[in-house]
Amino acid sequence: MIRLSKRIQRVAPSPTLAITARAKAMKAEGIDIISFGAGEPDFDTPEEICEAAKTAIDEGKTRYTPASGLAELRTAVADDYRRRNREVEADEVIITVGGKQALFNATQVLFDAGEKVLIPAPFWVSYPAQLHLAGAEPVILSTTREGDYKLQPSVLRGALEKEEIRGLILCSPSNPTGSTYSAEELQDLAAVLADFPDVVVMYDAMYDRLYFDAEVAPDLVAVAPELDGRVLTFNGFSKTYSMTGWRLGYAIGPREVIKAMGTLQSQSTSNATSFVQYGALEALRLDDAILAERRAAFQRRRDLIVDALRSIDGVRCPMPSGAFYVFPDFSEFIDPAKSEEEGYFADDLRLTEFLLVDAKVAVVPGSAFGAPGGLRLSYAMEDEQIREGVQRIKDALEKFRG
Ligand SMILES: Cc1ncc(COP(=O)(O)O)c(C=O)c1O
Repeated sequence: MIRLSKRIQRVAPSPTLAITARAKAMKAEGIDIISFGAGEPDFDTPEEICEAAKTAIDEGKTRYTPASGLAELRTAVADDYRRRNREVEADEVIITVGGKQALFNATQVLFDAGEKVLIPAPFWVSYPAQLHLAGAEPVILSTTREGDYKLQPSVLRGALEKEEIRGLILCSPSNPTGSTYSAEELQDLAAVLADFPDVVVMYDAMYDRLYFDAEVAPDLVAVAPELDGRVLTFNGFSKTYSMTGWRLGYAIGPREVIKAMGTLQSQSTSNATSFVQYGALEALRLDDAILAERRAAFQRRRDLIVDALRSIDGVRCPMPSGAFYVFPDFSEFIDPAKSEEEGYFADDLRLTEFLLVDAKVAVVPGSAFGAPGGLRLSYAMEDEQIREGVQRIKDALEKFRG
């Protein structure tokens, strides 16, 4: 047996993959499964973006670009942020192979072995994994459903006062909960951070244009400019422009960090695919009407799924304000001290399995996101499927409880 590095052994394969793989296998057997598992929009990439990438290929734009991205694209991203009242220069931007690589590069260049980084739960699964790969140590902070799963300033302060902390990762709008920090809430967190000037903040805004209360969700640096100089902002094209397979993202941050991330990238992947970057340039020129239409569709589906979930006895579902996920609380159905005959599942994995087998519905258990008791449902699908899927859950649970 070949011995694997300790580094990779610290990283568990995604628990969400197991359930998705099982749902896929059942579908392949011809079983009619409705999957709320997807982490991507169901829309196609807008035609204009595809055409721009095809044209780039036809024009021979198929060679290496600078490792940190095309100068035009870095400038276009900076311009895009300037439109949101934030001063960004092109050399404060790095273009990466998906938002995931931007986050990975950042954790590699920012954190040393043993350094502690705060992550509020529920969290996106890759944050702890990437910190482990950097040798750093995730410190998980709890949030509550009543508090919309957002980090409270007092909890942040308590954690920062307790031990030496190097960083904080925030995601807004959030995967998996869809909740979004308001400008005021971000300012309240910034006021706490003001007392801890060595803490860097990784602000994941991957879903900021899939936000229902305005065209774009508040940006941390725009609303708390005093944090500029120690915030890295992450964004990308996957979710906003339905370009998940294209693999293109970016980070914005202090020059020296962006430069270090560029050095890492130049020794690992090099540039993101050349013609994909030309497609992204077109995405940033796209008429806002296309995004507005998609946002409206997601908002309608959000209303539909929240209403449907709230109609299930025992389920409590907060109203998300962004992304395309809901995170209803199913903890009324979970109690390891009781049996299924009494109407309880041992944990959320067992509940998820029950829903897959008995309701023919795939969902992701909250424990995957550090928040057992909840379930993540993606509503990036047709209205009819949403209705049918939630009805199946409701029927199966009613039958289960007799
Ligand atoms: C919160 C969050 N951040 C980052 C990413 C990475 O996106 P991508 O690498 O597809 O650009 C995702 C994708 O699922 C996400 O949900």
